[in-house]
Amino acid sequence: MKGVICAGGLGSRLYPLTRATNKHLLPVYDQPMIYYPIQTLVNAGIKEIIIVTGGPHAGDFIRVLQDGCEFGINQIFYAYQEKEGGISQAIACAEKYASGEKIAVILGDNCTNADISPDLKSFKSGAKIFLKKVPDPERFGVPVFKAGEIIKIEEKPKKPKSNYAVTGLYLYDQTVFKRIKKLKASKRGELEITDLNNSYLNDGLLDYCYLEGWWRDAGTFETLFEVNQFWAKKRLGRT
Ligand code: G1P
Repeated sequence: MKGVICAGGLGSRLYPLTRATNKHLLPVYDQPMIYYPIQTLVNAGIKEIIIVTGGPHAGDFIRVLQDGCEFGINQIFYAYQEKEGGISQAIACAEKYASGEKIAVILGDNCTNADISPDLKSFKSGAKIFLKKVPDPERFGVPVFKAGEIIKIEEKPKKPKSNYAVTGLYLYDQTVFKRIKKLKASKRGELEITDLNNSYLNDGLLDYCYLEGWWRDAGTFETLFEVNQFWAKKRLGRT
């Protein structure tokens, strides 16, 4: 299985912090933010990772990550996403790199201490998502449950039908690229990750579990601060 990290976008929610660099390179205690999702994949046994990025600061990634040898993996690859066309479009940039293998995708601002290696090992086909109970589901993809099963996922619903977020960690089989090609842009003009997950769901091929451990996306000032606090305390042995 190969790793894909989506690290594009303008990070405009974090202006002025992201005027001079990409959001995923901002400091989280003693490391750039993207180190955390990289370590999640590496700890799960992934040996090859592609960083899909874009925007005005794409070149900063190579300066920071170089060839990736400090993470103990075979190699880091880079792909350039031309426009801010959504997470599914970012994943599509990894098609040649994946070359028929299954992929583990993580969003570059998702920081967690969860161990997903058992999920990677047991993953055979279809797709798998990881859910987390949150106080503000309207910021996320939100699963709608009926009789204990997910019947659909809604992207940033005004009135969420559950208290769960679909976290930015996804496992996909080889059909992912074919499915992305069939997606239509949403109202905000993006190929949504939620539509990709719903494509698997509609075919009865979406598995899910609850993410065990601490998780935040560092996409707002508040969560960026929380993520910094969490990792600082952990490193300093204060948890
Ligand atoms: C994105 C996805 C959303 C998901 C979230 C997880 O949101 O669109 O479905 O729940 O990542 O971090 P965004 O980062 O664009 O707010």
